[in-house]
Amino acid sequence: MLVDGNDPGVIQQAAALLAAGQLVAFPTETVYGLGARADDDAAVARIFAAKGRPQQHPLIVHVLGAADAAQFANAIPPAAKALMAAFWPGPLTVIVPRRPGFATAAAGGQDSIGLRCPSHPVARALLSAARAACVPGVAAPSANRFGHVSPTQAGHVVDEFGSDLLVLDGGACELGIESSIVDCSRVSPVLLRPGVLTRARIEAALGQNLLAPDAQAPRASGTLAAHYAPKARVRLVSRQELAECLVRPLPAGLAVYSRSLQVSGKFLYLQMPDDALAAAHDLFAALRWFDAAGANEIWIESPPQNSDWDGVRDRLSRAAAAFA
Ligand code: TXA
Ligand code: MG
Repeated sequence: MLVDGNDPGVIQQAAALLAAGQLVAFPTETVYGLGARADDDAAVARIFAAKGRPQQHPLIVHVLGAADAAQFANAIPPAAKALMAAFWPGPLTVIVPRRPGFATAAAGGQDSIGLRCPSHPVARALLSAARAACVPGVAAPSANRFGHVSPTQAGHVVDEFGSDLLVLDGGACELGIESSIVDCSRVSPVLLRPGVLTRARIEAALGQNLLAPDAQAPRASGTLAAHYAPKARVRLVSRQELAECLVRPLPAGLAVYSRSLQVSGKFLYLQMPDDALAAAHDLFAALRWFDAAGANEIWIESPPQNSDWDGVRDRLSRAAAAFA
């Protein structure tokens, strides 16, 4: 059921559902999340079942602030403290050692836990009402079925799960791609997933360089090579390749998503914004729009190489890898 997330009565109802171990979908500044109380393994199991997600893939726990985060952690390493101080509330998840015996299902059984403090007012109102009902944190992956494109509008969540689920409508998500994830549970911080916060800003707050994920990094869905995929086959191509291919015979159901080529012809076309933040905001809605319009294949112009585009480039290369 789609309801107005700005209605205080709705927030109370949603918090009561969470407290009772039920699922609620809610907006964050990145994407919509599918939430359950994080301290209840049976409630969290409902998320894995609804998404069709493997149980060993850890979820992110959403909290109101650093004090609540501490309840889930065995220790908050200095790097995590620095990032929480710099970027919370906001689009940054820290992985820290988990308090043993707590939120085991949410952590996918790992001895670490991902914590994030969202800034979206509807998410904050929900977390606050839930805490008043003794819910210390809300585990919430993106509110899509496993492997699909993340939802950035309330209607996308209904498209994924139908109308039985309570979905708090908070409008279109401001940022549009998932939070940056930094693993602070190891000796040196590792960037597990890029987001809209640039690597340079994260490294400046840390006072040290981020490492790239290695074989020791936990296996997790957001980091699988093939993820975030629309139904249509995605091909990433350079501007030049795109220009060359478009003058040849075209496949049926072709869609083009390009920044620099304004084209028209017998295919679906959307223009990708020229700015990395705007491109992130539009990305998942554009992929869903192409699917709904019946695209079989989406040719997407490769994003620029600079680090502002890391988050968008990451999502696009995973969408393309699903069909490689
Ligand atoms: O922006 C976001 O982060 C959104 C909104 C709803 O907050 N959430 C989100 O959740 O993207 P999800 O489940 O789609 O992605 C969570 C990712 C996992 O795939 C994994 O990569 C990482 O978080 N993760 C969570 N806990 C972890 C842990 N203990 N160790 C390593 N990675 C972890
Ligand atoms: Mg996800």
